[in-house]
Amino acid sequence: MLLEGKRLLITGVLTPQSIAFEVARVAQEQGAEILLTSFGKAMGLTEKSGRRLPATPEVLELDANDPDHIERVAAELTSRWGQLDGFLHAIAFAPADALGGAFLQTPWESARTAFQTSAYSLKALAAGFLGLMREAGGSIVSLDFDASVAWPIYDWMGVSKAALESITRYLARDLGAFGIRVNCVSAGPLRTIAAKGIPGFDVLASAWGRRAPLNWDIKDPEPVARTVAFLLSDWSRGITGEIVHVDGGYHAMGADMPETTQEADEPPG
Ligand SMILES: NC(=O)c1ccc[n+]([C@@H]2O[C@H](COP(=O)([O-])OP(=O)(O)OC[C@H]3O[C@@H](n4cnc5c(N)ncnc54)[C@H](O)[C@@H]3O)[C@@H](O)[C@H]2O)c1
Repeated sequence: MLLEGKRLLITGVLTPQSIAFEVARVAQEQGAEILLTSFGKAMGLTEKSGRRLPATPEVLELDANDPDHIERVAAELTSRWGQLDGFLHAIAFAPADALGGAFLQTPWESARTAFQTSAYSLKALAAGFLGLMREAGGSIVSLDFDASVAWPIYDWMGVSKAALESITRYLARDLGAFGIRVNCVSAGPLRTIAAKGIPGFDVLASAWGRRAPLNWDIKDPEPVARTVAFLLSDWSRGITGEIVHVDGGYHAMGADMPETTQEADEPPG
């Protein structure tokens, strides 16, 4: 099994639709021992979702913006496992006025909240858990939405994702010496609670299929989860500082596909 014996921390499980839930499921299926994190009022929801996994994992409290929480989780992991083989950062939040197209009106406080929660937190967790990973090395993976272009509605979350991509490269630079790899998976649109908070998500999601050469199902996070599992495993031991697109190929196309004709459907030759 791909993740046999790995001890992994999975953040970001809120509902069974969360991308992190699917990562947790695939990780357990592939032999990993996992712990989940959640915080505040969402703890109960995460625990309930956890009971739907193949083996019910414990949930530790972790607000990624709270240094005390990070310290407490690091201490807990030290006493339970002594080391950490990897973690998934599946954390994003932007206030309503930082999304939706009013980019020029967003106040600094809202842009800062989006940046801190959705990007800086990757550095905060990587630094906080370094003591658990520096002896044996490990793998850090985060979830990205392509930030190489501007999107109609994504606004300061898009800016935060650009920062997340950059932070991935800087962490890869600084943690490589410890054998710690840092990568992100740039996912196509998936129907989750976070996605529901993005106005116009449905327009974006429905347009995806017109450009992506592969079929893209917004209700199926498994292709993303399997790629995360690969990046958390030793099979990807030569990869760091990378952005892996799991988006049906959307990012590689310059325009929407033309309507297919009968002849175009025929393979050449
Ligand atoms: N759904 C999509 O279409 C899509 C596409 C590409 C990337 N992503 C990214 O995937 C990740 C997971 O999102 P999702 O779509 O599964 O939605 P989700 O709502 O299920 O997960 C978002 C998670 O972020 C957590 N979170 C928010 N603030 C936090 C904080 N301060 N500390 C700790 N956790 C916090 C929430 O509790 C929640 O579990 C996010 O980074 C998101 O940007 C989502």
